[in-house]
Amino acid sequence: MSTHATVNIGICGLGTVGQGVWKHIESNRAALESRLGVKLNLARASVRDLDKKRAVRLPAAKLTTDPLAIANDPAIHIVCELIGGTTLAREVTLAALKAGKTVVSANKALLCKHGPELFRAARKHGGHFFFEASVAGGIPIIKALREGLVANRFKLIYGILNGTCNYILTRMDREGASYPAILAEAKALGYAEADESLDVDGWDTAHKASILAFLAHGTWVPVEKMLVEGITQVTQADLSFARENGYAIKLLAVITRDAESGQVFVRVQPTLIPSTKVLANVNEVYNGISVTGDVVGETVYIGRGAGQDPTASAVISDIADAVILLNRGNSHLPELAETRAALSPLQSITGRYYLRLEVKDEPGVLAKIAGLTAKLDVSIASVLQRPSETPGAASLILTTHDSNEKAIRATVRRLGKLSSVLGEPVLLRIATFS
Ligand code: NAP
Ligand code: HSE
Repeated sequence: MSTHATVNIGICGLGTVGQGVWKHIESNRAALESRLGVKLNLARASVRDLDKKRAVRLPAAKLTTDPLAIANDPAIHIVCELIGGTTLAREVTLAALKAGKTVVSANKALLCKHGPELFRAARKHGGHFFFEASVAGGIPIIKALREGLVANRFKLIYGILNGTCNYILTRMDREGASYPAILAEAKALGYAEADESLDVDGWDTAHKASILAFLAHGTWVPVEKMLVEGITQVTQADLSFARENGYAIKLLAVITRDAESGQVFVRVQPTLIPSTKVLANVNEVYNGISVTGDVVGETVYIGRGAGQDPTASAVISDIADAVILLNRGNSHLPELAETRAALSPLQSITGRYYLRLEVKDEPGVLAKIAGLTAKLDVSIASVLQRPSETPGAASLILTTHDSNEKAIRATVRRLGKLSSVLGEPVLLRIATFS
C-alpha cells in the first residue's frame, strides 16, 4: 500500500454544499492536516456556469464545466459528488468508483435510486462510497447506525429529516407566516433542493428514510413501497388545533420492524407529536432522530439538517475517513450487508389519526360521517366543529382511536365522495409510539 503525503480532492459541484466544503477545508486546513497527517490539496472543482459569482475564489485553471474530467483524472484521490440529481451525478460517481477512487456524496436521491449499483462498483474496483451528508445534514447519524449502534437491532426509528419542511412548519406555527413566503426564504438560505417539490412533497424525507432503513435493516425499501405525504396540505387550522391540544406538527419519517415477522415498513407523514416529546421541540432547520435499539434503548440525535455549514461538516468528516483509508488501508467500517426483509401489510400499520373535513353546514352531515366511519371500523375519539371561511360550510376536525392505514385510507376515500364533504379531506397522523 502506498501512502500519500498529499491527498488531491476534486469537488464536483461548487454550489451551496460544494462551496461550504471548499471554504471550511481552507479555513480549518491546519487542524485537519495535523489530525490526518497529510496535506489536503483542493485540486479541482466543476460547475455548470463558469461566469456565476461565487463566495469562494479559486484560480480559473482549477475550474471546469466537466465533472467527468475530475472523476477520471488519475491525480485525484477523492471525488466529492455535490451536483445533485440522479443522471450526471450517477455517471460521475460510477466513473470515479470504476477508477478505484473514493467518492463522498451528499446525494440522497442518487443513493436511494442506485445504492446497490454504487456499492457494487465500489467493492468491485477497490474504492469506497461515503454518504454521511446524505441524511440529516450535520448529524452523524450514518456513523451512529453503522458503527456506534452496531450491537443493536432496531424496532423503531423516527425522525424529522427535512430541514426545509421543519423550517416552514415552525415559522407557520410561530408567526402565522404564509407558506410561499417561508419557502422562498428556505430557498434563499440554501436549505431547499433545486427542485423544492422534493422537500415539500415528502420525497427528500423518503430518500433519507430509505437510506436509514438500509443501514438499520440491510434492506432497500424503494420510495414506491412507502407511504409518502408532504406538508402542502397543512394549514393554520391544523397547526392551531395541534397547539391548543398539546401537540406540534412535524413531517416524520417512521421506520418500523416487527420483531416477530421481521417485516419492515417505512412511511413519511405529517404527524401530531405530543409536545412532551423531544422531537416536538426540534424547530426551524434542525432535524431530530429517535433510534430505539434492542440493546441501547432509545437514543436521540439533534442538529441542523440542511444548509451550507452543517452539510459541509458531514462531507469533510467523510473526506477525513477517506484520507485515513487511503493511507492506512482497509475499511474500519462494518460491511453494509444486504438482506431481504418483507414489507408489513398496510393493516398492520396502526395508530391514531386526525381528519379535517370541510363540510356543508346542514342537518344530518355529522350522522352520515359517523355512519361511514363506523362501517369501516374506524372509531372516533373526538369531534370539533369550527366556522369555515366558505359561506354555508363548516370545518370538522375528527380524531380517531387506534386504527390502521388500510381502514383509514378507505375512510378518507369514501368520505371524499360524500356530497356533503367539500374538497379533499386532510389526514394527519397522531404519534402514538413511545
Ligand atoms: P446547488 O447549490 O444547486 O449546487 C449544485 C452544483 O452543481 C452547482 O455548482 C452547479 O453549477 C453544479 N451543477 C448542477 N448541474 C450541473 C451540470 N449539469 N453540469 C455541471 N455542473 C452542474 O446544490 P446543493 O444545495 O449544493 O446540493 C448539492 C447536493 O447536496 C444535492 O445532492 C443535495 O441534495 C445535497 N444536499 C444539499 C444540502 C443543502 O442543505 N443544500 C444538504 C444535504 C445534502 P453552477 O453553480 O454553475 O450552477
Ligand atoms: N433540502 C434538504 C432539506 C437538504 O431541507 O433537508 C438537506 O438534505
